[in-house]
Amino acid sequence: MRRLAWVPLILALLAGCNPSSLTDEEKRVVASLSLAALPPVPDDPSNRFAASRAAAAFGATLFFDTDLSANGEVACATCHKVDRQFQDDLPLAKGIGTTDRRTMPLAGVAWSPWQFWDGRRDSLWSQALTPLEDAREHGADRTMLAQLLARKFGDRYASIFGPLPDLSGLPEHAGPRSDAAGQAAWAAMDEGRRREIDTVFVNLGKAIAAFERSIVPTQTRFDRFASALAKDEEPQGDAAFSDLEVEGLKLFVGKGQCVNCHNGPRFTDDHFHNTGVPAAPGLPPDRGRAQAVAQFDADPFNCLGPYSDAAGKCDELKFALRDGEELVRAFKTPSLRGVASRPPYMHSGQIPTLQGVIDHYSHAPAAPEGHSEVQAVIFTDRGRAALIAFLKTLDP
Ligand code: HEC
Ligand code: HEC
Repeated sequence: MRRLAWVPLILALLAGCNPSSLTDEEKRVVASLSLAALPPVPDDPSNRFAASRAAAAFGATLFFDTDLSANGEVACATCHKVDRQFQDDLPLAKGIGTTDRRTMPLAGVAWSPWQFWDGRRDSLWSQALTPLEDAREHGADRTMLAQLLARKFGDRYASIFGPLPDLSGLPEHAGPRSDAAGQAAWAAMDEGRRREIDTVFVNLGKAIAAFERSIVPTQTRFDRFASALAKDEEPQGDAAFSDLEVEGLKLFVGKGQCVNCHNGPRFTDDHFHNTGVPAAPGLPPDRGRAQAVAQFDADPFNCLGPYSDAAGKCDELKFALRDGEELVRAFKTPSLRGVASRPPYMHSGQIPTLQGVIDHYSHAPAAPEGHSEVQAVIFTDRGRAALIAFLKTLDP
């Protein structure tokens, strides 16, 4: 008799997990997270080649070309691996040397107004120029790249961007981010020549950016679940969620408060938050967004700069928050699409597993600097498993 008394309770609990048990508010949030809610790729007025198919095809070639590096071994695709969600599974990225941050996956980057974990670049093309000149990544320089383009892709370049400038007598290696000799050679060039080389450099970035606009998030089980829900149908086949997955979804959009930041169809608000992630041992202090402000303002390739095609239409840059405690150790909210299959996590790969990430949100440790925005939420063992089960439904 006693045992049987449990049956209605268990049935009630099970019913509580059925997708049709989602409240109208939960259903509304699910619809807002679904790929169906993703708007078309936004225009990039700063790049007049953004929609050029020829530029995008050229950009794809460049993305995979290891000749764009000092040692002939590093391409964008070395770290942004196509078959690994355009990331590399490492805590810290490795090019010619080792960087201080984790390689970011690229699906949906064209929707993001700010690039990098700290958002120190305001367009895809200005972003692309940064690793090319970073000694730890491609380690290339501007005159070397211009000469490479002329030698290897002269006609293709000219058919898209117009003729290359006269490169005769140019130093083999020169650029403002180069080694001391390269910087001196760059400083010795006259300004007109430097501007010509910068234009070639910028066009290279604009071609790569045009290609990156085609790297878009793909349908997941979650999207099939959401689309059935939107039609008021019972999800079928792999779109059907287990009880655990539905519980995880409810925690994600409810008590867990994850959607406060991981929202919209890319599971990111495109903002910067201090979430109390511990500093990575052995690395210099990383102040996140607080150290990015001076960098995007000083970047000659930003939206308001002379190489931008935006004619001053640069609201993100103009109205960006430039000071305040909330910028200290704030990092860009990463998309959670595909997250379960690409450990380790956080801006320097500080947390090895998803279990560790959930522990982090339940303990909500104090930030190494600034103030963490995370409110501790106590998850039961079942709740933790449920959140992870839900995150796995976002795998491509
Ligand atoms: C050595 C490995 C490495 C190479 C090579 C590399 N990247 Fe990255 N990429 C990273 C790392 C690490 C980050 C994050 C760095 C940071 O936040 O400071 C990143 C960030 C990005 C982002 C920002 C994504 C976002 O959501 O904000 C884009 C876009 C990107 N890389 C594109 C490229 C392109 C294009 C190239 C080639 C020109 C390239 N990367 C070369 C490792 C690399
Ligand atoms: C206050 C905003 C905020 C809230 C709330 C929040 N996150 Fe995050 N999340 C972030 C930011 C920012 C990062 C990156 C932090 C860093 O690297 O320093 C992040 C990182 C992550 C990562 C690692 C992703 C990667 O690619 O490295 C996962 C997984 C994650 N969050 C899941 C969750 C879950 C689950 C919840 C709810 C329990 C949640 N987040 C709540 C902002 C938030």
